[in-house]
Amino acid sequence: MKIFIIAVLTADGLIAEGTDQISTDWTSKEDKKFFSTRTKEAGVIVLGYNTYKTIGRPLPGRLNIVYANPDTVIEGAEVTQLAPADLIKDLEERGYKEVAICGGSTTYTMFMEAGLVDKLYITIEPVVFGAGMTLFNKKFDVKKLKLVFMQKLGEETVLLEYDVKR
Ligand SMILES: NC(=O)c1ccc[n+]([C@@H]2O[C@H](COP(=O)([O-])OP(=O)(O)OC[C@H]3O[C@@H](n4cnc5c(N)ncnc54)[C@H](OP(=O)(O)O)[C@@H]3O)[C@@H](O)[C@H]2O)c1
Repeated sequence: MKIFIIAVLTADGLIAEGTDQISTDWTSKEDKKFFSTRTKEAGVIVLGYNTYKTIGRPLPGRLNIVYANPDTVIEGAEVTQLAPADLIKDLEERGYKEVAICGGSTTYTMFMEAGLVDKLYITIEPVVFGAGMTLFNKKFDVKKLKLVFMQKLGEETVLLEYDVKR
């Protein structure tokens, strides 16, 4: 099973101004396209409930798994409370080969901390917030990354692809 984080960051390293940021005006159409294509290719997206609420609906063409309380019902998505390793085992048993971890900060941190992430796709947009939500929200053992690919997605947008060094 290959597990990757996919995120779009401001040039000052933030993923949102706050927990409930709905607007994605600051992200480029090229990044939205990359997110859509790459996550459909993976076939499974995993997101936290705060992120799900900012989107407001399951994303089509992919299995949507949302971390939320057991009494949460989302039509068109699976709700889970499984520990990351147990969720991945379950998906593996169901034949999935790749999983996209789609945030937010709590969810990215949970999978990174569990040592399950193989790769990070980080898009950098030409905007700064000054203060806001970072990609991760907790200290964990330093993870070294290897830059394996970089691409200018658009006129002002850069995509970085990192492998996590084991
Ligand atoms: N720039 C980007 O690439 C990007 C990507 C994704 C999201 N975001 C932004 O990130 C922000 C949200 O991030 P976030 O860190 O606040 O939240 P999040 O990771 O989206 O969701 C966290 C929530 O998920 C639920 N949850 C997590 N683990 C759980 C478990 N084991 N069992 C049950 N429920 C669980 C909890 O919901 P309850 O508190 O309701 O119990 C928790 O508060 C939004 O502003 C969004 O726009 C940005």
